[in-house]
Amino acid sequence: MIIAIDGPAASGKGTIATLVAEHFGYDCLDTGLLYRAVARDVRARGGALDDEAGAARAAAALDTTTLDDAELRTAAMGEAASVVAGHPAVRAALLDLQRQFARRPPGAVIDGRDIGTVVCPDADVKIFVTADVEVRARRRFDELVHRGEAVTFEGVLDVIRKRDARDQGRAAAPLRPAPDAVVLDTTNITVIAALQAALDIIAKVTGAKA
Ligand code: DC
Repeated sequence: MIIAIDGPAASGKGTIATLVAEHFGYDCLDTGLLYRAVARDVRARGGALDDEAGAARAAAALDTTTLDDAELRTAAMGEAASVVAGHPAVRAALLDLQRQFARRPPGAVIDGRDIGTVVCPDADVKIFVTADVEVRARRRFDELVHRGEAVTFEGVLDVIRKRDARDQGRAAAPLRPAPDAVVLDTTNITVIAALQAALDIIAKVTGAKA
């Protein structure tokens, strides 16, 4: 069973993916961390984020045991990730790893931007999580302040708007719902309600396919 969860930055997709995976006892992969780690490794080697060949080499050599590095969660690394994620060669280098993870028995939850469209077009369930941009910025702002980062709400809102534009506007695997994805809008609902909505979608889609 493969559950693909996509959506823009701070939509709640990561939280929903983690809770859905816990619910079913599946493993969960946050693919944003892969791109964040590639950006980290490019910088650590003194490379430039816009050097596609260098970033692709970092992607091919990625050590997935380093994904719990707290540095990956910073706002700066999210920005850097969005740049390396625009390189087709980086995306290609990370494809097999993601597909292998998705095939783990008894099932996997995998979240990102292009899981339902490119990584796992045959996923059993595809959910596209979204929310109003100001609500997403407020969530990301609260999260970063909690982590001790010196940010302003306006600054975070600006960064999220630019990230949305970059993630949606790139030629390689742009952020967009798969035609068969079910959209889950978390603007006005709690985490618990969002989890329930996701579980309802999964039950309905898998029930219909059974
Ligand atoms: O979900 P996140 O904020 O950790 O993602 C960081 C960046 O990585 C995001 O701006 C775009 C990129 N990304 C991507 O292009 N494809 C994915 N499947 C996941 C993330």
